This record gives sequence, C-alpha cells and structure tokens, in this order.
Amino acid sequence: MAVVGEIVGKVAHEVLNPVSAMLTSVEHKLETSHQSIDTVELIKEILLDWETHFNNGNLESYLQKTVEGQKEKTFGQEDFESMYALIRQFTEHIKENNKEWEFLHHHILRVVKIVDGLRVVARRKKTVEELDINQPLKEALELMKESLRKQQIELSQKQPVDLPKIKADFNEMLQVFCNLIRNSMQAITEKNEHKGGKIAIETMANKAKLLIKISDTGNGISKENMAKIFDANFTTKGRHEGTGLGLNISRRFIRECGGDIKVEKSSKEQGTTMAIWLPLKQGKHL
Ligand SMILES: Nc1ncnc2c1ncn2[C@@H]1O[C@H](COP(=O)(O)OP(=O)(O)OP(=O)(O)O)[C@@H](O)[C@H]1O
Ligand SMILES: [Mg+2]
Repeated sequence: MAVVGEIVGKVAHEVLNPVSAMLTSVEHKLETSHQSIDTVELIKEILLDWETHFNNGNLESYLQKTVEGQKEKTFGQEDFESMYALIRQFTEHIKENNKEWEFLHHHILRVVKIVDGLRVVARRKKTVEELDINQPLKEALELMKESLRKQQIELSQKQPVDLPKIKADFNEMLQVFCNLIRNSMQAITEKNEHKGGKIAIETMANKAKLLIKISDTGNGISKENMAKIFDANFTTKGRHEGTGLGLNISRRFIRECGGDIKVEKSSKEQGTTMAIWLPLKQGKHL
C-alpha cells in the first residue's frame, strides 16, 4: 500500500500540473470569448444606427455631421475608425484563442501520456518473459509502417534470426522501439521537411549482451542538448509533437531489465545512432 500511495501521489502531482495549467487557460478563453461578444455587440450597434438613419433617408447627412468639439472629424470618419478598431480587437481575440487551443492540445496530450504510462505500470504484474527481441521490434515497425511510407523513409534491417532470448516485458520493449523510431522519424522530417531519409536497425549479440542499434539520417542532437535528452520533460519539439517523456520512460524500462541505452554517436550532418544493450538470460539472477 505504501508503494501504491507513493505512485498515486506522484501521478496526482504530475497530472495536476498540466490540469491546472489547462484550467487557467480555459478561464482565460472564457474571458476573451465574453470580450469578443462585447466587441461584436458594439459593431452591431453602429450598424443598427446606420440602418435607422438609412431607413429615415438621412444616412448621408448623419455621416457628414461633424463630431462635437472636433470640427475636422465627421461622424462617418469616427464610425469607420471605431469599426476598424473593433474588428482589429476581434481578430486579436481569435488569434489569442487559437494560441490557447494549441496550449490545451499540448497539455491534454501530456495528461494522456502520463495516464497511459500509468496503465503500463498498473498492468505490471509485468509479464517478464523469455523474449525474442525481434518480436516487439517487428510489431513496432508494423505500427509505424504507414508513417514511414508517408515520409518516404527507407528502412534497412540487419537481424540474425537465431538471436538469443532476453528477459523482458513485451509491451515495454514495444514502447521503447516505438519511441526511438518515432524520434528518428521526427529528426529526419525536421532535417529535410519530408524529403525522406533512412533508418537502419541492427541487432547483434555476444555471450553476455544483446545490442540493438537504431540509426537515422536526421538532424542530430546538439552538444548542449546531449546531456538533457533523457531528462523527463526535455523536448526540442513543437507543442503538437513532443512532451519530452519518450526517452526518459524508455531508459527506465531498459534499465529495469538490467541494460542501458545511450547515444552512440550524433552529428548534424550524419544523424544519430542510439544503442540499447540488454543482458542475456544466463547467470543465476535470471
Ligand atoms: N534520433 C534523434 N535525433 C535527433 N534528436 C533526438 C533524437 N532522439 C531524441 N532527440 C532529442 O531528444 C529530445 C528528447 O526526446 P524524447 O523522446 O524524450 O522526447 P520528445 O521526442 O521530444 O517527446 P515525446 O517522445 O515525449 O513525444 C527530443 O526533443 C530531441 O531533441
Ligand atoms: Mg520522443
């Protein structure tokens, strides 16, 4: 129960952050919406006024009348100025509202990811089984197939068929591969705006370890970001694309299996190679 309490507390904290940000955003949206209605009402009032004068046959003289105290300004000029100002205000409200929608979209995505991650934790009787690493890898590629094709990304795979088994949870490994392949895809898109690229996946084993390398021809990781990419919440991506949790969660899963995940090399010109190693299922502890 203590563990459950700790997890619930942590999750409540993680979920409360984006949710309270969303609440503030919704309150702000409501306020601007009310202001927009006021703005439109004012425009309507000016138009109604013109309509009344028009119906009475004196719209022209009304618009030509000079504003009291300002000889050079007519009612017409003043009304036009007001209308333009109100319309500008209205456009600003719409723009602000759109920003607010994007913000909400981003934070809803965050909550979905956190809760989704939680399901994985909850399901965790954690079916650690003897696993052929090619299976979750194959499934991940199957899931990403359509996006890879759309973005004209060429995939090459080097995988011996008779790889030794590891001990791991299928779903966790699937998540790890999906996260890494998605990162590679996004890095490629960021580099050349949909002109395609390559992802290479290579699996190999020695007596003690299984090694999986995922390389891409994407935009690379800068030196200053290198130390931060595994941090929770670190992202260089736009609001719609990244929450910065992918690598953090992936490394946790891999480390729980006794392995590790690292950037083997990365440069702006040549792209990135991520390397995952996992211990093989020999030895007494397994
Ligand atoms: N293959 C890669 N090429 C270039 N940069 C990468 C690569 N993989 C990760 N990164 C960098 O590391 C950052 C963190 O990656 P991570 O997967 O943790 O989060 P994210 O992809 O930004 O968001 P999320 O995975 O939660 O949707 C990315 O924003 C990106 O800057
Ligand atoms: Mg990612």
